Amino acid sequence: MTPELQRWRGKIALVTGASSGIGRAIAEDFGRLGLKVGIAGRRPDALAETAARVQAAGSDALVLAGDQCDPETNHRFFADLVARWGAPDILVNNAGMLGGRSLLHAEWSEVQAALDLNVRAALICMRQAAQAMRGKSEAAIINVSSMTGHRVMPGTPAIYAATKHALRILTDGLRSELAQEGQAIKVALLSPGLVDTPWHHKPEGMIAQKGGYPYPPLTPADIVGAVRYILSAPAGVQVCDIQLRPSAQTF
Ligand SMILES: NC(=O)c1ccc[n+]([C@@H]2O[C@H](COP(=O)([O-])OP(=O)(O)OC[C@H]3O[C@@H](n4cnc5c(N)ncnc54)[C@H](OP(=O)(O)O)[C@@H]3O)[C@@H](O)[C@H]2O)c1
Repeated sequence: MTPELQRWRGKIALVTGASSGIGRAIAEDFGRLGLKVGIAGRRPDALAETAARVQAAGSDALVLAGDQCDPETNHRFFADLVARWGAPDILVNNAGMLGGRSLLHAEWSEVQAALDLNVRAALICMRQAAQAMRGKSEAAIINVSSMTGHRVMPGTPAIYAATKHALRILTDGLRSELAQEGQAIKVALLSPGLVDTPWHHKPEGMIAQKGGYPYPPLTPADIVGAVRYILSAPAGVQVCDIQLRPSAQTF
């Protein structure tokens, strides 16, 4: 481990969407860095698998199971984490969902759930984390967005893109408000292009719909590398915005 990352050893993190894909990889890596990790998601069995990986990496995990579309769930996650270990030093807001492919034809329940999870739950967690981190000498909030949070191409699912655009603005707004308050909290937006995760293996996903990836995707390990870069920056340095995509992704 580099000296820059060494300073996070023994600190407390919350990773949402940690039962799968990118979130699981980040949680596992936090275990390697010696962070205690609250791992959130809906599926207790999948979270237990992530917890086992964090523990195998040499650290502690706290399973936080619940549906973040319910605002109370997000408050409970923080209350349980603080009761167990104290105030978090790192939040990774990673849980997300598509919300249907079509703005016109998606079931309203899907649209509502995407707004509730990708925007409202992320905002509740940001506020909870910022409150808990007040006065710390260093802390970090990392919001996992998407390249669709920066621009929309023909065929891009617009509801999903809208939620990720909202997350980008909320991230900038949070960083600005915390700076005005003099809080030493890193606030970063992390925007991947195509990443190989179970996301694309769901019935509405790319693998099921198109039979494969159109070009070699990123891996969750690539996203872990970006998280490490954000946390490696010296105290007082803000890595505001990381966009990363596969070399063959043309947009
Ligand atoms: N994969 C890509 O190509 C890609 C590209 C750009 C951005 N991203 C973003 O990366 C993030 C992670 O995606 P991924 O690719 O790792 O997908 P994934 O493997 O499907 O993971 C999604 C995670 O979100 C959690 N989640 C979904 N709905 C939830 C809810 N209502 N309440 C609580 N947790 C919920 C899931 O947990 P449960 O299933 O246990 O509920 C799971 O842990 C998302 O924000 C996504 O938008 C992905």
